[in-house]
Amino acid sequence: MSRGERFRQISGNMSVENELGGPEGEIESAKKRKKRGGGFSTEGRSGKPWNREEARVFQSVFGKNTLLALYKLINDGHFSELHGEFNSGKEASIFSGIDRYGKFVAVKIYRIEASDFSNMLPYLKGDKRFENIGNSKKEIVFAWNKKEFSNLRKMEEEGVRVPHPIAFLENVLVFELVTDEESGGISPQLKKAYQEISDPAGFSEQIVLEMEKMHRAGFVHSDLSEYNILVSGGRPVIIDCGQAVLLTHPNAQEFLERDCENVSKFLSRKLGYGISKEELLKRVLSSRKSEGEAREERKNG
Ligand SMILES: Nc1ncnc2c1ncn2[C@@H]1O[C@H](COP(=O)(O)OP(=O)(O)OP(=O)(O)O)[C@@H](O)[C@H]1O
Ligand SMILES: [Mg+2]
Repeated sequence: MSRGERFRQISGNMSVENELGGPEGEIESAKKRKKRGGGFSTEGRSGKPWNREEARVFQSVFGKNTLLALYKLINDGHFSELHGEFNSGKEASIFSGIDRYGKFVAVKIYRIEASDFSNMLPYLKGDKRFENIGNSKKEIVFAWNKKEFSNLRKMEEEGVRVPHPIAFLENVLVFELVTDEESGGISPQLKKAYQEISDPAGFSEQIVLEMEKMHRAGFVHSDLSEYNILVSGGRPVIIDCGQAVLLTHPNAQEFLERDCENVSKFLSRKLGYGISKEELLKRVLSSRKSEGEAREERKNG
């Protein structure tokens, strides 16, 4: 039995499509999709059988357990259609999908076998929430995915602009697809879109504010750069929060300094917003302090 057939068998009545969307944009409107009809198929966008790239994506991402996790997430109503992979990072492939109300979602699937997860450990082990996880690839990836979900939830609660987390299971995360109303497509990374920003100083200041909020929420992102900031409606959205650690993590200060260095370099060089690593660090750290002071003051009267 081919993998496609097995997928169809496992997926039962779930509606899954294999549309490899282009990067940043080209999301099909719900209306168009409806007209075209949904459902799983082994045909690509052109209606021809999968090309080699499409087949590669399918094989590297959709192991049996991943298919089952997707099935459960769909059955539990967290989303209803999986479209094409629109981006992939070092450890995960990101797909667009649709929920039952016709709203776009992002589905991030960690490739369990195909990646090296040893670099995840330092961000898990020092985190008191995940101290007791095992050392198998699977345990590490599942913990990482759970961590990304809970980080997003807490950050969102504290007002950080992150994609809204919807659900997670094993190596699959379902969350808001960050889109750009102006272009009508998927939001681009700051790295690619910075030249189109109409108010670079205002945008830079918003990034600093997001960093302050994140710090007040008790987190250090730990991989913050122009790659993990998206531009949506002229404002920054912070993504890729799996490695974010609590401020109590033994390396939190080091990670924060690295984030400040990356961000200050980009803001200064590409957005003309002169802020040194030290200044940025001071602002982020003092935002928490002033919040603490404010709390003290409230307490004292
Ligand atoms: N919710 C989302 N909405 C829109 N685009 C997204 C979303 N999540 C991820 N992306 C896109 O997919 C890319 C890869 O996602 P992400 O950075 O989360 O994956 P990763 O595998 O953890 O990446 P990395 O290579 O940085 O380790 C992002 O840079 C971004 O362009
Ligand atoms: Mg990333």
